[in-house]
Amino acid sequence: MTDFLGYKGKRVVVSGCFSGMGEATARLLIEMGAEVHGLDFKPSALPLASFSQIDLRDPASIEAGVKALAKNTDSGRIDALFNCAGLAGGGAFPALDTFKVNFIGTRHLTECLLPLMGEGSAIASIASTGGLGWSRRIPVHIELLQTKGFDGALAWAEAHMEHVAEGYAFSKEAVIVWTQFMGAQLIKRGIRINCSLPSPTQTPMMATFHATSGKEVVDAAAEPLGRYTTPEEQAGGIILLNSALAGVINGVVLPVDGGFMGGLATGQVDISKMMGGAKAG
Ligand SMILES: NC(=O)c1ccc[n+]([C@@H]2O[C@H](COP(=O)([O-])OP(=O)(O)OC[C@H]3O[C@@H](n4cnc5c(N)ncnc54)[C@H](O)[C@@H]3O)[C@@H](O)[C@H]2O)c1
Repeated sequence: MTDFLGYKGKRVVVSGCFSGMGEATARLLIEMGAEVHGLDFKPSALPLASFSQIDLRDPASIEAGVKALAKNTDSGRIDALFNCAGLAGGGAFPALDTFKVNFIGTRHLTECLLPLMGEGSAIASIASTGGLGWSRRIPVHIELLQTKGFDGALAWAEAHMEHVAEGYAFSKEAVIVWTQFMGAQLIKRGIRINCSLPSPTQTPMMATFHATSGKEVVDAAAEPLGRYTTPEEQAGGIILLNSALAGVINGVVLPVDGGFMGGLATGQVDISKMMGGAKAG
């Protein structure tokens, strides 16, 4: 079969490979002939080229994981990075833990891996439709982006908990703004960076979303498709973004949502159900 997506023999890194979308991404990439290196808090059962344990809440752990990964690859070139690890919010976890995993640690991991990436390589991160509020506070996000490293971003977050709030929505907004910002920078080095916005997806994280937001609110965000997506469908979006076919797709925020964003923009998805929950239902 012709390798249109260009993954055969390519060295790729997947964070969050233990479960959900990250597991599906790593599994599909192995099937496509890529050399897949996994990173996660929890060990993976997949036949990976290597696995390194990292805790995205801890910069030392991230740096040790990257060192282990570099050792496993003889510091060779990385062709693609998939930032799939994430933590729910809504009070289920400490807000700063959610913010660290979804943004601060994800940015730090990316920055630690960038020296191993070069012309033609690509980065795709999973954000969320939950980060839709990003355009309402771009200056705040630009300020956050000016911080240096894990500790700089953490100090900023601790001083701006009014924005961080429960952690999840702001972390996803930050990934969206960071992706667009870095798109304009990294392309000068021939590296692309994009992110996806999944609609509700049947993964282990869904139980937490139901517990914190309520099933009716989550179901409303699954319109007009009328069902939750699968981890494989979400893997498809980011695998396309990092593929050889997406050669000049850069700085893009790609909804992988069965038409939710389009429905919202054209008034065909009832946002009051999402905002008001059971009250509006
Ligand atoms: N499921 C949904 O409906 C949905 C919707 C929109 C966006 N997302 C996002 O998709 C991404 C993937 O989530 P999922 O739904 O597959 O959930 P999941 O819980 O199955 O996967 C999350 C992965 O991240 C790893 N992880 C968590 N904390 C970590 C840490 N401290 N260090 C390293 N790894 C850690 C977990 O071990 C797990 O493998 C997340 O960023 C999530 O926010 C999910």
